[in-house]
Amino acid sequence: MNAPTSARGARTAVIAGLGASLPPRELTNAQIIDRGALDTSDEWITRRTGIRRRRLAGPGISTGDLATAAARAATEAAGPAAGPPDLLVLATTTPDRPCPATAPEVAHRLGLGPVPAFDLSAVCSGFLYALATAGALVRSGTCRAPLVVAAEKYSAIIDPFDRDTAPLFGDGAAAVLLRAGNSTEPGALLATDWGSDGSGSDLIAVAAGGSRLPAAAGPDRADRYFRMQGRPVYAQAVRHMTASAAAVLAATGWPPDEVRAFVGHQANQRILDAVADRLGIAAQHRFGNLREVGNTAGASVPLALADAVARGVCPPGAPTLLSAFGGGLTWASVTLRWPDAPVRTAVPEPRALARAHQEVSIP
Ligand code: UT7
Repeated sequence: MNAPTSARGARTAVIAGLGASLPPRELTNAQIIDRGALDTSDEWITRRTGIRRRRLAGPGISTGDLATAAARAATEAAGPAAGPPDLLVLATTTPDRPCPATAPEVAHRLGLGPVPAFDLSAVCSGFLYALATAGALVRSGTCRAPLVVAAEKYSAIIDPFDRDTAPLFGDGAAAVLLRAGNSTEPGALLATDWGSDGSGSDLIAVAAGGSRLPAAAGPDRADRYFRMQGRPVYAQAVRHMTASAAAVLAATGWPPDEVRAFVGHQANQRILDAVADRLGIAAQHRFGNLREVGNTAGASVPLALADAVARGVCPPGAPTLLSAFGGGLTWASVTLRWPDAPVRTAVPEPRALARAHQEVSIP
């Protein structure tokens, strides 16, 4: 892990607006049980994860459609003060296509002109990796108003017959527009801690579709889907999120009991509580929406943040901690002051697809 970086100078990135987009179709635990494809129960899913329902995009809505809606919402929420976005980074593990990146098309659909646009792949840590990258670009003066988007359509890579993963994941997108500002302002990004451990790369993986096992080689059905070894991932998530959060808080100069908002990766309520308990962050300062949307991978932290900001759960400027862990393995934590920025939600913007993928039919 590299040393945490801190923005103590006058210039840092500040959140100017937030946007979120969820597909309209909801799948409750009860509906999963009714479909009969999984040997599971509402009681198991709720008790072991905290999830009660999730959203699914369906064949007509892609990751890029969700990203476009969330990014447009964030830009409109920010209004003209931040200026037009001059860079777009899209955190996703489920791009519209393996090639090219999805970000340039999202930027085009938003009418941003010839701005730099790229995808960033860090699985469930994706948004925080993208936020750290964009924040550093603002601090260095490389860009002025980066649009940081995280969007996922995990339903496209989830095996509906795999009870280890199918009840956990959902689809969605969220975005923040950053602007240059001062580190004392509400919404100011302060410090980052991020790291990786590739020795655990097999714990969360889609085996096929890359150069090792190309899609053209006709891989086995099992290799085409997302697989996760839940139990070891759980242990690693608690360990790394706790250590990373402690490191970023130390770099910021905040004792954990000063944190007024903890928004962690929405994978499992038990993981979030274990991390917060170990850090000593009281229950009333923990915010999330896992129960309603499940694990939306890279999009989960900004979706939970946008939800909490929209609900006005914290006063602007309050000490805030974001932390995530995911495939790679990767982890990241960011401190910021609670935003004083508008939030907008938007419905996905479907683009006519040349050939929509067919959902696997469940008997
Ligand atoms: O987003 C990226 C990062 N991801 C995470 O952080 C996820 C980390 N992992 C987890 O959240 C949890 O490990 C899971 C939710 C995936 C699983 O919960 P768990 O409490 O760790 O369960 P387990 O894997 O230890 O399995 C306990 C039992 C097993 O049965 P036996 O061996 O005790 O008889 C499983 O076969 O629960 C069984 N089980 C299920 N039962 C009903 C596993 N999945 C299910 C299921 N429904 N969906």
